[in-house]
Amino acid sequence: MKSIRITEVAPRDGLQNEPRRISAETKIAFVDRLSATGVSEIEVTSFVSARWVPQLGDATAVLAGIHRRPGTIYSALVPNEQGLDRALECTLDKIAVFAAATEGFSQRNTNGSIEQVLSRLAPVIARAREAGLIVRGYISCVIHCPFDGAVQPEQVRTLCARLIDLGVHELDLGDTIGAADADAISRLYEGISATVAPGATTLHLHDTQGRAISCAMRAIEIGVRSFDASVGGLGGCPYAPGAPGNLATESLVRAITTCGFESGVDGDAVDQAGRWMRQQLAELSGASS
Ligand code: HMG
Ligand code: MG
Repeated sequence: MKSIRITEVAPRDGLQNEPRRISAETKIAFVDRLSATGVSEIEVTSFVSARWVPQLGDATAVLAGIHRRPGTIYSALVPNEQGLDRALECTLDKIAVFAAATEGFSQRNTNGSIEQVLSRLAPVIARAREAGLIVRGYISCVIHCPFDGAVQPEQVRTLCARLIDLGVHELDLGDTIGAADADAISRLYEGISATVAPGATTLHLHDTQGRAISCAMRAIEIGVRSFDASVGGLGGCPYAPGAPGNLATESLVRAITTCGFESGVDGDAVDQAGRWMRQQLAELSGASS
């Protein structure tokens, strides 16, 4: 059967905006539960500045504690060379660098213009490749920016070309604030088709308007074969107002089956991992109230 890859981003995108302090032990137990679901990849954490994202300041400890499932790819976000230095001290298969299609989000999220961020990423990508790591290149705000408004596919196409030139192995297109509908997904892929084919991208959907699953189904029709998702729909970016949950892994797994594909993911294990993490968060709320 034709297969679709799922990257589980809950430990990173799902928790980065979480105000309750979650221990490294809980994060490790969470990642281990996610490994047992059979997802292709897990984005475990982030080597950004802890001043910017305090929740993920324990990236090294989390990566040191997890049990790696053979065949699963483990990755982490890296914004600059300082982050790469920290990442290279850990065991990782892949790093994810991130840029934005708009100046407004680039400034708010990474404290630099698009050009400055790309210059910052050039040595990160080169050094990561030298170290044998796979490099994912995220582009945020591919549909709409919370600061600059509507985004044209041409802006995204330009960024795709720049990141490919810098040497990323794959592109991940982020609908950061969940603004897309299915037709916007079609327009996006039509607009970037001269530079990148749908099957060479990962789609990263947020579910602000409840449309993420219809967007994913349209993307599958168009030829996208790789998605990010987060158990329990956990997630959001602290620097993108109006970006709550990610596309829920539970819904994505069902939609993939409905579309006649397989994901290799155990739906029951996904449900359990999501319920377990929600329970941990509920207990933390109880503890802090
Ligand atoms: P900056 O403040 O301009 O950095 O931040 P700087 O180079 O001027 O350094 C300032 C201080 O930060 C220094 O410390 C550095 O050492 C430290 P001081 O000397 O003042 O004590 N620092 C670091 N410490 C640890 N690790 C590092 C690091 N870098 C600097 N890597 C920076 C620039 C890019 C670092 C900052 O803006 C940042 O960390 N931004 C990340 C924000 C973020 O994580 N956002 C969420 C992830 S992106 C996302 O969610 C979207 C996505 O899901 C896709 C989608 O939905 O669209 C991926
Ligand atoms: Mg995101």
